[in-house]
Amino acid sequence: MSVLTTKGATMRFGGVVAVDDLNIEVERGEIVALIGPNGAGKTTAFNMITGVYTPTEGDVLFNKDGGKDMRTITGKRPDLITKMGIARTFQNIRLFGEMTVLDNVMIAQHLHIKSGLFGAVIGWPRYYKEERRMKDGALALLERVGLLEEAYELSTSLPYGKQRRLEIARALATEPSLLLLDEPAAGMNPTETLELTEFVRQIRDEFDLTVLLIEHHMQIVMDISDRIYVLDFGKTIARGTPEEIQNNERVIEAYLGVADVD
Ligand SMILES: Nc1ncnc2c1ncn2[C@@H]1O[C@H](COP(=O)(O)OP(=O)(O)OP(=O)(O)O)[C@@H](O)[C@H]1O
Ligand SMILES: [Mg+2]
Repeated sequence: MSVLTTKGATMRFGGVVAVDDLNIEVERGEIVALIGPNGAGKTTAFNMITGVYTPTEGDVLFNKDGGKDMRTITGKRPDLITKMGIARTFQNIRLFGEMTVLDNVMIAQHLHIKSGLFGAVIGWPRYYKEERRMKDGALALLERVGLLEEAYELSTSLPYGKQRRLEIARALATEPSLLLLDEPAAGMNPTETLELTEFVRQIRDEFDLTVLLIEHHMQIVMDISDRIYVLDFGKTIARGTPEEIQNNERVIEAYLGVADVD
């Protein structure tokens, strides 16, 4: 029951082939990792999946519920892809720093639901009702990710680990079926890093998600992933279970550090 499939997805920037013939398949409910050295093409793969870039060649197929009936999302606009059920976080946190934690989540809901400013301007009671409902929904979401106490704080005042959580909450506000996390542990302290594995599993279960994640922190990757794809210079050099990847010669060669994971 695939949720996401890429078929020969390739992205060229001038002479650079950032991603070369990417063929991944992600099944419903899985946690799949995309790993590889810096510049391997991981973020570019996310950008092709989320419509930031249209692949130079190949296709990206998606089925929100998982199944044989996969539809192409190649070249669709990012906002439409979000509406279809794919949400992401960014390698460099992108929060609205001057806004509260709650507002960050509500903005994401708005962008998703598009109740429209029109209603607010002409003062439709329905608009206010919906606003109330969205606020309740956002607070409930913050509670589920452990940020309720911080709801009225400025997002930039949060410690880094919580900012990452907020970014995930904001992605969840768009009600995705597939969640893409680009280096969620980056910048986290050891405690936050330890908590991340459990947190990602928890949201996968509670929100009925499929997760594709990019991560350099090998302990997390090996603990959390059902399967792993390894990229190097844009090419997929290995795929398999954490055990298979840790014992893969090509991976050990290309990706120093994997060999040290125990
Ligand atoms: N918009 C762009 N224009 C030109 N080259 C790009 C662009 N985006 C990415 N690249 C190049 O594509 C390659 C892959 O970059 P990408 O950001 O996908 O790597 P990555 O695996 O995410 O690396 P990192 O682990 O450092 O985040 C790099 O050589 C990068 O310089
Ligand atoms: Mg990257």
